[in-house]
Amino acid sequence: MTTTQSFNMVLFGGTGDLVMRKLLPALYQAHRSGSLGPGRILCLGRRDFSQDDYHGQVSAKAREFLPKADWSDATWAEFANRIHYVRIDAENADDYPALKEAVNAESAEVTVYYLSTSPSLFTGICQNLAAQGMNGDNVRVVLEKPLGHDLQSSNDINQSVGKYFQERQIYRIDHYLGKESVQNLMALRFGNALFDPLWRREWISDVQITIAEEVGIEKRGGFYDHTGALRDMVQNHLLQMLCFVAMEPPFNLDSDAIRDEKLKVLRALVPYTNEDVLTKTVRGQYKAGASRGQPVVGYLQEEGVPADSTTETFVALRCEIANWRWAGVPFFLRTGKRMADRLAEIVINFRDVPHQIFPAPGGISSPNKLVIRLQPEEHMKLYFLAKAPGDNMRLQQVHLDLDFAASFSIRRAEAYERLLLDTIRGNLSLFVRQDELEQAWKWVEPIMNVWAQDGSSPKPYTAGTWGPAASSALLSRDGLSWHEEA
Ligand code: BG6
Repeated sequence: MTTTQSFNMVLFGGTGDLVMRKLLPALYQAHRSGSLGPGRILCLGRRDFSQDDYHGQVSAKAREFLPKADWSDATWAEFANRIHYVRIDAENADDYPALKEAVNAESAEVTVYYLSTSPSLFTGICQNLAAQGMNGDNVRVVLEKPLGHDLQSSNDINQSVGKYFQERQIYRIDHYLGKESVQNLMALRFGNALFDPLWRREWISDVQITIAEEVGIEKRGGFYDHTGALRDMVQNHLLQMLCFVAMEPPFNLDSDAIRDEKLKVLRALVPYTNEDVLTKTVRGQYKAGASRGQPVVGYLQEEGVPADSTTETFVALRCEIANWRWAGVPFFLRTGKRMADRLAEIVINFRDVPHQIFPAPGGISSPNKLVIRLQPEEHMKLYFLAKAPGDNMRLQQVHLDLDFAASFSIRRAEAYERLLLDTIRGNLSLFVRQDELEQAWKWVEPIMNVWAQDGSSPKPYTAGTWGPAASSALLSRDGLSWHEEA
C-alpha cells in the first residue's frame, strides 16, 4: 500500500547499525517500489560528517545488506537525494532549536521521530523535543526495543515518554509483527471458516513456537550480556507470536480491537510460581562448536562477555493460557543463538483420533499438524495421514504445502519496510500498546527473578545444536517432542 502523505522521517542513531542495516535499506525498497510518498529522511548523529561522507557510508552499507537484484545505482542516487545528515548531540537541549529548523515540521503532513538509540536516551530526547514544541499533533515517535530491562524500568520509560506524547503518537516496534507470515496468521484464522472450529483445546494437543538463530551474538557482547535471550526474544517476539496464535477474533481490524484481544491473551497466561520456574523453564548458554561446518567460539569467549557470565543464550518454556479456548493446552516457546539452523516457525499439533482402526504408522506422534514457517522461507504445511499405495492399509504422513513465494508473484516487503510505512500512514495495529508491554514484563519477571536468585548457571549446549538436552525433556514429560521437519 502506498503512502501518500508527505513526511519527515527523523532517525536518531543515524550512524548506528539499525539505521544502516535495516532502516535505510527498508526505506530504499519502499522508494524503489513507489510506495513511499514525498518526504525527507533526516539522519541524526553526534559525529561531524559532511553530507558526501555520510552518503558514501550509507550507500556502502546498504549495498552490502540489500539483495543484489534490488540494487540500482540510479535508484539509489535518486533515493539518496532524500537523505540529509544532521549533527546533533541528542542529550544536549541546546542542539534542538537547530534540529527544529532542520526538520521544519510544517513542511510535511507527518513527522516521525524514530528513536534508534539506547533506551536510556528516550526520556531525554522526548523531553527535548517537547521543550521546542516538536511534539504536535502531526508528530509520531517510534521506540525501538528493548523497552526497559524489567517491569519497573519499562514503566518508567512509558510514563516519562507519556508526559510528552499521547499513546496514539507512540509506536513501539516489535519487528516480528511486520513479518508477512505473522499477519498471515490473522488471515488464516479469521479469513477462513475452516480453522476456527478446530482452533481450541478440544482438538489441539500442544503448540510450539520456535525462533532459532544460527548466528551468535555478533559483536554485541556488551548489549547482549545485560539482556539475554529472555529479554531479547521471549518478552517481545515470542509472546507477540503467541498472542496471534491464541487471541480471539477481533471485531474489526482497528488497531485497538486487535490489541485488546492480544492483551487478553497476555493477561490469561498462567503466572509462574518459583517452583514452575524450576520445572517449566530451561535456560542454556552455548559453548564452542561449529556453525555451517566452521568452528565457532563459545559465548564466554565472545568479545565483551565476562568469562563468568551466566547470561542465557537459549530459553525454552512451557506455559499455559487460562481461558475457555486453551485451558490445559501446553504452549512451548523456544529461542536460541548458535542453533543448528535459522528457523522461525509455529507448530500446531492436533489431537489423535479417538479410536485408531488402522495399524499405527511408526514414529508419528501427531498425525495432524499445521506448521507455519516464517523464515527462512515462508510456507504453511498441513500434515495428515493417507493410505500408501499397496495391497494393505498402511498409512503414511503426507502434507499439503502452501508456498507463499510461489503463490504470490509480487515482492514481499521486509518487516521494517512495512512498519516504517505504517508509522507514516498512522496505522498502529502492528505496534505494541503500553498495557501489552506492561503485561508481558509482568509475566516474564518471575522467571528473571528466580534465575537471578537460584544461584544456578544456564545449561551448556554445543554451538550448532538444538540447545541443551533439558529442552527435549521439557516436552517429553508431556509425552511430546519438538517438531522436526520430515
Ligand atoms: C532482534 C534481537 O530483536 O531480533 C536480535 O535483538 C535477533 O538478537 C533479531 O537476532 C532476530 O530477528 P530476525 O528478524 O533476524 O529473526
